[in-house]
Amino acid sequence: MRFLPILLALLATPAFAQDAEHGAALFKRVCSQCHQVAQPRSLQAPHLIGIVGRKIGSVEGFNYSQAFKDAQGNWDEATLKAYIANPGEVMKGTKMINKVPSETDRTDVVAYLVTLK
Ligand code: HEC
Repeated sequence: MRFLPILLALLATPAFAQDAEHGAALFKRVCSQCHQVAQPRSLQAPHLIGIVGRKIGSVEGFNYSQAFKDAQGNWDEATLKAYIANPGEVMKGTKMINKVPSETDRTDVVAYLVTLK
């Protein structure tokens, strides 16, 4: 079955692309008023280029809340999903108040965040 890997790739791609695409649309609507992703520049919020795997609260020159200054570790998909579900619960005292209530939406937004390199 020479073509099996290609067939599997074709089957797998659209689902992922669709999630990240939906996530991109959501991001544009809900997050982009505060977060830049096209250039490493911070508005009222830190830019999110390379956010997956990035050290928490590490954008140079951005004045993070004390919660972020005290935080340890790097963002991964799980911590990002938890943070956008309820920022104030995960990071007590964070300046970000926007929540993404739907689990599907959170998964899609994070699928999009993964693409920000
Ligand atoms: C009204 C402005 C605003 C909106 C809208 C907003 N955020 Fe934020 N976000 C912030 C601020 C301000 C911070 C910095 C938090 C702090 O210092 O406590 C932040 C921090 C973050 C961080 C951590 C960044 C880092 O450098 O560690 C992530 C990830 C994030 N936001 C994702 C999102 C996503 C995804 C959305 C859309 C669902 C979103 N934000 C919507 C203002 C916003």
